[in-house]
Amino acid sequence: MASRDLAARRSGIFSRSTIVPVFSHVRRNERPGSWFCGLTKKPSTNVLSLCRQPHGHLSDASVLLADIPGSFTGEQGALPNVGSLRGFDVIANIKAQVEAICKQTVSCADILAVAARDSVVALGGPSWTVPLGRRDSTTASQTLANNDLPPPFFNLTDLISAFGNKGFTATDMVALSGAHTIGQSQCLNFRDHIYNDTNINPGFASSLKANCPRPTGSGDSNLAPLDTSTPYAFDNAYYTNLLSQKGLLHSDQELFNGGSTDNTVRNFASSKAAFSSAFAAAMVKMANLSPLTGSQGQIRLTCSKVN
Ligand code: HEM
Repeated sequence: MASRDLAARRSGIFSRSTIVPVFSHVRRNERPGSWFCGLTKKPSTNVLSLCRQPHGHLSDASVLLADIPGSFTGEQGALPNVGSLRGFDVIANIKAQVEAICKQTVSCADILAVAARDSVVALGGPSWTVPLGRRDSTTASQTLANNDLPPPFFNLTDLISAFGNKGFTATDMVALSGAHTIGQSQCLNFRDHIYNDTNINPGFASSLKANCPRPTGSGDSNLAPLDTSTPYAFDNAYYTNLLSQKGLLHSDQELFNGGSTDNTVRNFASSKAAFSSAFAAAMVKMANLSPLTGSQGQIRLTCSKVN
């Protein structure tokens, strides 16, 4: 049995041969080159940002559950997520199309995992086989999200330990951070780095200050690209930026700051192939973090709420 089929077979409810044609159908329905989210035109509609956290919400789609005032508080309002998560509409749209042709069979967790992979491919990054057959959580925890999401002020030791707690190696962590080859950050998340850190290229810092004023509360949500060289391509420029101290977040530059991950950054900067294969392997690992299978959880009808 191919390993990619394992989760689906374990569930005993449906198989990969059911799901793959469903996804193919959805792809055919979308405009060529822009299916899932038109990432190339509007990179902030970013499905990949939904898989930033290492605590496993990619594997059970808990992050997609919206708050219900008075009765349910999910992860979307967790402090590190505020203003950062995008792409919910994209997932909702795919889910609607999938449900129309195959009722309550394909989980939101599987849709999220496939959408993340296809977003990367659409921007020129690597592809990988997404194991299918996860089921969706019926709960979400803002407390867990608050505690588990690595904030941008983490140092290298903190980052290695946050990802290590979930079974990722330091190399996995450096590779996954390469997702910052696309997307943007709000000023409030990089202000400290550009004004207070010394391990930043001075010209780069000045160019960012123009759109990110020093006083807290001023221009907090102004955006800057995480990859200053090629913000719309999924390539390894994120790492070459780090070599010249052009990481946007404090946590980005921590990966190349005289510590134990310097050589990994050098390796990924010099070889897109090395980055691509490490990124793909780590994404498979992330999508497989304690997936719900069998009779666990449910197949949500609408990704933003439990059935
Ligand atoms: C290593 C620890 C990480 C930290 C500290 C971190 C932190 C951040 C922060 C602060 C932002 C900007 C959010 C905003 O200002 O709205 C961001 C954006 C983003 N992150 Fe991460 N992140 C990490 C790892 C990851 C991983 C593992 C992925 C995916 C595999 C990822 C994917 C993204 C994407 C795609 C964006 C851009 C979102 C957009 O433009 O809409 N990050 N991250």
